[in-house]
Amino acid sequence: MLYPRELIEEIRFQNDIVDVISQYVPLKQKGNSYFGICPFHHEKTPSFSVNSEKQFYYCFGCGAAGNVYGFLMQMEHCNFVDAVQKLADRANISLPEPELTPKAQEMERLKQRLFEMHKTAGRFYYDMLHSAKGEEALAYLGKREIQPNIQRKFGLGYAPEGRRVLYEHLSEQGFTSDEMVKSGLVMENKDGRGYHDRFYNRLMFPIFDVQGRVIGFGGRILGKGEPKYLNSPETILFNKSRNLYGLHLARKTRNKELILVEGYMDMISLYQAGFHNVAAALGTAFNQDHAAVLKKYVESVILLYDSDEAGTRAALRAIPILVKNGLAVRVIQVPDGKDPDEYIRHKGAQEFSKLLVNAEHYISFEVKCLQKNYNLENPQHKVEFTTEAAKILAGLDNAIEQDVYLAQVATMTNIEETAIRNEMEKMKTKQEEAFSKEAQRKRIQNYTEQSAAQFYHSKGIMEAQRSILSLWIAHKWIYDKMKHLLLPEDFLDPAYQKAAMLIGKWYQNEEAIVPADLMSYFEILEEQQKITAIFATKEEVENKYDMEKIINEGFRLIKHAGLERKKQTVHSIEELQILNIEQRKLTQLYITILDG
Ligand code: UTP
Ligand code: MN
Repeated sequence: MLYPRELIEEIRFQNDIVDVISQYVPLKQKGNSYFGICPFHHEKTPSFSVNSEKQFYYCFGCGAAGNVYGFLMQMEHCNFVDAVQKLADRANISLPEPELTPKAQEMERLKQRLFEMHKTAGRFYYDMLHSAKGEEALAYLGKREIQPNIQRKFGLGYAPEGRRVLYEHLSEQGFTSDEMVKSGLVMENKDGRGYHDRFYNRLMFPIFDVQGRVIGFGGRILGKGEPKYLNSPETILFNKSRNLYGLHLARKTRNKELILVEGYMDMISLYQAGFHNVAAALGTAFNQDHAAVLKKYVESVILLYDSDEAGTRAALRAIPILVKNGLAVRVIQVPDGKDPDEYIRHKGAQEFSKLLVNAEHYISFEVKCLQKNYNLENPQHKVEFTTEAAKILAGLDNAIEQDVYLAQVATMTNIEETAIRNEMEKMKTKQEEAFSKEAQRKRIQNYTEQSAAQFYHSKGIMEAQRSILSLWIAHKWIYDKMKHLLLPEDFLDPAYQKAAMLIGKWYQNEEAIVPADLMSYFEILEEQQKITAIFATKEEVENKYDMEKIINEGFRLIKHAGLERKKQTVHSIEELQILNIEQRKLTQLYITILDG
């Protein structure tokens, strides 16, 4: 961790979780707890609770959980250090310089310089656009009907003619050639002597990260020519697969649905028309990383790509990626072969919102695209089309959706629904067979930690670990009774292992265990969630008979699973026998707490 533990605890202490969360979610008090509508999943009745005494939040609906740092990480999509910094700010606590390794320090310094440089460059291009040199570019923006306030909001600018205009400007501002090359804004001449700007005579679109910092640029040629758009290369600031143009604005809407478009102008055009939940994947095809980023902010995506062949192909490629990441997908095809920007400009926002309402389910879109390849008057084509369509429908796991689109295909082809359904059933069985064969192969051939992990993370074993940790935290004497029998490394989940280790250390130093403080040691959201679950899902057990039962059942379950895991990696029969003996001994072991 970058900051001293005591400081982290002090900052947490100064930021009451109820106060902090109230800034985002209206809360109602009920005893020691507060309730509200969960900001992390859709719901109508409040299942999101904040425990004021223990200073954590927990959602009974979706399991979101953590202390005040966890909340900020989850709400602001930031990392632990960012959360610490934000809350220190909120409490007017000043932070010392973080302790980084020299190499990390150097990297961090370079990043800051590049952020500075992009800001400076953006400012420069903006000033150029509004200077005499920028007349033509400004007129072009006028022609494309981008209003001045929107131009400003997106920081649009102009890179003037000339080989090294930006280079000179950045030099004057104290940036070195080396830094400039690393930013991608300047390139070394081919002969290795001297430098030149990447962008000239182009309309400039700053590209922002989710926090609204400029990390790159896209430059559009003013007339015709190639390439139409020139983009910054990948740099230490700009990862093309993790940044979507406009996402820094879209996320602010907190809308769970996002309109995904192809390019700069479409994004800006929709924004200007009042549709603020829009973003574009830039300079690279939509991929897995994009989808993972989107999934952090939204639940469903409306694909709004050009309706030409290239756009349709891109949409068809994006669909499975989005679906695989658990996003609901609908598709809009803009009529008359226009792109979204043109359509809005010609027809207005009202007409456009009709398209939005009528966005079709992705399956229906896929089937329609498929149909274009066939002539349904031709019997052979008809058979092939129906077979392909059945394949698409078989992939849907929602039965209602399946019915709806099955009916659609039946109408299109004039083939009985039952016949198509039969075909689908056959495919499903085939798919399932393939799937279970594959699963079996995996089970037999390569026993992997990962598939085993599922077993060790089963409900019962996770709960056993939580119950025991919960009792240890509440009662030092129980910990003392068990500490030689159940070691930290016996816990199967790494987060619980670490918790057990910390508890031991604190008891040894005779320190009190503060739940919300313990949570702060887990800087990854999922881990913090697991730790919070120790406190959130447990009724406090006071009856010693119950405690003894929980301890023994949990202890045996954990140890047993641990030995099972070891068995998977033994190298000899002897080792296996030893483990078997240990397992047998386990059944005879009983921890009693009642008389002491
Ligand atoms: P389009 O050619 O559809 O451009 O490319 P557009 O957004 O409609 O642009 P205007 O309306 O003619 O100004 C879609 C997106 O593909 C990327 C850009 O991100 C663009 O916005 N692209 C396109 C490039 O990166 N380079 C290119 O040469 C062309
Ligand atoms: Mn366009």
